[in-house]
Amino acid sequence: MLLDLALYLVTPAPWRHRRLGYVRESILLTSRARRCRRAWAPHCAAARAAMLAAATDLPRRETVVVLGSGGLADVPLAELSALFRSVVLADAVHPLGARLAARRHGNVRLVTVDLVAEAGAVGALCGSADLTISANLLSQLPIVPLDRYEARHQPVPEGLGRHIVAAHLAALDGLPGRVCLITDVAQREEDRLGRITDSLDLLHGVTLPAPPRAWDWEIAPFGEAEAERRLIHRVHAYPDWAARRPSSPA
Ligand SMILES: C[S@@+](CC[C@H](N)C(=O)[O-])C[C@H]1O[C@@H](n2cnc3c(N)ncnc32)[C@H](O)[C@@H]1O
Repeated sequence: MLLDLALYLVTPAPWRHRRLGYVRESILLTSRARRCRRAWAPHCAAARAAMLAAATDLPRRETVVVLGSGGLADVPLAELSALFRSVVLADAVHPLGARLAARRHGNVRLVTVDLVAEAGAVGALCGSADLTISANLLSQLPIVPLDRYEARHQPVPEGLGRHIVAAHLAALDGLPGRVCLITDVAQREEDRLGRITDSLDLLHGVTLPAPPRAWDWEIAPFGEAEAERRLIHRVHAYPDWAARRPSSPA
C-alpha cells in the first residue's frame, strides 16, 4: 500500500493523465503483476512468443512500436531491441521499472500518449513502423473513459466502450506495416469447483475473428480479488492481424 503510494507520487506522467486516473490504474496493474507474477507467467510467455513470431520473418526491421507497453511484463524488450534498429514504447504511463528497462538499451524510446483522446496518434506513431504491436491494450482503452462518467455519476454515452474498441481496430487496419494484435476478449469468474459464476465481454460487443493463437490468463488467482473466486481472461493473439480470416469468434 505504502509502496503503491510512493510509486504513485514519483511516477512521471503528464498532469492530465494523472488527473484522469491513468497513473492510478498503472500503479494498481503493476502491483497486481508483482503479486501474481507466477500465475501470469504462462500468459506473459505466450504473449512474448506471439510478438516475436510477428517480428522474426519481417523483410525489414527498422522500427517496431509497442502500443500499451506499460510495465513490459509481456513485452520481450531485449529481443525486440536486438531485432530492430529502433523500438518505440507507447503508453499513457511508463512505470519506473519500464523506464529503467528502456534505459538499458540504446535504441528504445518512450512516447507518452493517450491513445483514446489523441485522435490520429496510432497513425502518426506507427505510420512508418515495420511492426506495430498492440500489447494487451485493446480491452483497457475504454476503462478510464467509462470510469470518468461513473465517477461523476453521469450516464455513460450509449456505445462508448464499443466505439473506443472499434476505433483502435480501425486505426490498426490503417497501418501499412505488419500489425500484431494481442488482447483479452472475455473474463470469466470461477469458483473452486471450476463452475463459472460470472462472465464479462471485455470488448463491449465487438467480436474478433478466430485467432491463430489463444490462451487463458489467470489474471486474479484465488485470494487476489476474492478468496473463493478467481478471474480468468481469454486472450486472442494475431501475430499478423491483416492475415486474419473473417470467421466466427472463438
Ligand atoms: C494490461 S496493460 C498492458 C500490459 C503491458 N503490455 C505489459 O507488458 O505490462 C494495458 C496498458 O494500456 C495502457 N493504456 C490504457 N489506456 C490507454 C490510453 N488511453 N492510451 C495509452 N495507453 C493506455 C495502460 O497504461 C497499461 O499500461
